[in-house]
Amino acid sequence: MLRNRVLLLASAAGVVACLAAVSSVADDAGKSAAADGTPKTPLQKSMVKMEDQTKAIRAVSTSPGRFKKSAQGKDLVTAAEDLVRLSRDARKYTEPAETLKKPQAKWEEYADQCLAASQEMVGASRKKDYAGVRKALKELDNSCTNCHGLFRPKTGGDEFGNP
Ligand code: HEC
Repeated sequence: MLRNRVLLLASAAGVVACLAAVSSVADDAGKSAAADGTPKTPLQKSMVKMEDQTKAIRAVSTSPGRFKKSAQGKDLVTAAEDLVRLSRDARKYTEPAETLKKPQAKWEEYADQCLAASQEMVGASRKKDYAGVRKALKELDNSCTNCHGLFRPKTGGDEFGNP
């Protein structure tokens, strides 16, 4: 009788452990773009585009020489204009603040920082102003880092650190 009870307990524990393992896998899958690296939600897709444009701008502005050699304007302006559009788009999301129980006002503040830096980038790249582009890039990076620090706590914000 006692033996049966022990067996029953042991198998119940096994089932619980198993359920826990399954739910933690399911949890991870829902959490971010993902284990497989594919962005899934509209926000994630928007973010990936944001990163691509930021990288494109950074790539042609690592030095005054490179900045001069690159078409120096047109591509940069297009990328910066895209960033303006993307940060306006990012502002409207409410899920991150709701899920993390953080103020939506903070979300909007960081999205606005991102927008302001992108607008500055448009102006500087139209003028082909290297120093201005570098300054806007730094402000842009800060806005990514600020927002990720609060709203993407698992990853933090350092992965796009300042150049
Ligand atoms: C207003 C807040 C905010 C700003 C500003 C912001 N991000 Fe994000 N970003 C997030 C949040 C929240 C996530 C996590 C989204 C998720 O996994 O559902 C994220 C995720 C990402 C991801 C991962 C996307 C994926 O595939 O899961 C990349 C890349 C990224 N951001 C790049 C950037 C870059 C580059 C900037 C600045 C130019 C930036 N972000 C600015 C909030 C922001």
